[in-house]
Amino acid sequence: DWTPGNIIEDAIGWVLESVGDEQVLLGLSGGVDSSVVAALLHKAIGDQLICVFVDNGLLRHQEGDQVMATFAEHMGVRVIRVDAEERFLSRLKGVTDPEQKRKIIGNTFIDVFDEEAGKLERVAWLAQGTIYPDVIESAGAKSGKAHVIKSHHNVGGLPEEMNLKLLEPLRELFKDEVRKIGVELGLPADMVYRHPFPGPGLGVRILGEVKKEYADILRLADHIFIEELRKQDLYDKTSQAFCVFLPVKSVGVTGDGRRYEYVVAMRAVETIDFMTARWAHLPYDFLDHVSRRIVNEINGISRVVYDVTGKPPGTIEWE
Ligand code: XMP
Repeated sequence: DWTPGNIIEDAIGWVLESVGDEQVLLGLSGGVDSSVVAALLHKAIGDQLICVFVDNGLLRHQEGDQVMATFAEHMGVRVIRVDAEERFLSRLKGVTDPEQKRKIIGNTFIDVFDEEAGKLERVAWLAQGTIYPDVIESAGAKSGKAHVIKSHHNVGGLPEEMNLKLLEPLRELFKDEVRKIGVELGLPADMVYRHPFPGPGLGVRILGEVKKEYADILRLADHIFIEELRKQDLYDKTSQAFCVFLPVKSVGVTGDGRRYEYVVAMRAVETIDFMTARWAHLPYDFLDHVSRRIVNEINGISRVVYDVTGKPPGTIEWE
């Protein structure tokens, strides 16, 4: 009989059996899947779980602090926060191609994560938030919830000599089931039901070259958009919503003169599977209100546009 409580009990049972008194390492991203794994493993093995949270400087407004507040402060999970903003941004300097940016962000993550993992002693397991749809997607994946990692199938690309065993406690669950056990484990509902966020983060929402100045502006605009969606009860009616930074300047007027600043696009979609999507028909009054707030409250933005492209022909992200 499927209840969140049963699933959690089962999972804790076999985690304890597999892991014994060994230590488990988890890359915590703040996304739903890794968050639920963290909560589950913390309940099962407490301090035998060590999380590494890499702040790449491309996260949403105050996201790093929120992850630390939820896991480290409230739940007492051992979390090592690595502030790697400079490393990511310096490697991204001058790079404009979207796929190149994705590669650099992915590789830098692996380097930073490995470096932290290498400092830890006595870790025997690597936990991952793999869920059932991921298992189906990656053909040839081994069955079983715990097994030894093949080096090429090793997402973290950890140093060979660490020889970690892989622990995937969500491997048999669908997303909605993962969310339900997350709530049951005491994670905040707004974390568990958050819109998806791409791994490369703001790196693919800043068109062209990524700069800290752009990321800082984008975070503020995105925060206003999301905050207003929540306030007006529209957040849960959209599947994904965010702002995109356009590094082009546009002329505007203020009370005392002219401004010549950047453009931000708002993007909101409704979709079931993210393979196709329609742009969310948000109320004009709402768009008007958000647009005014963004231009009035943020230095550096003089114009706001709304993306009315479906998928297809567009993609959800702009890069
Ligand atoms: P697109 O833009 O392809 O996005 O219509 C479909 C969904 O995938 C997310 N997305 C990504 N997620 N790494 C990720 O982890 C990526 O590089 C990436 N690119 C797109 C996007 O946010 C949307 O939910």
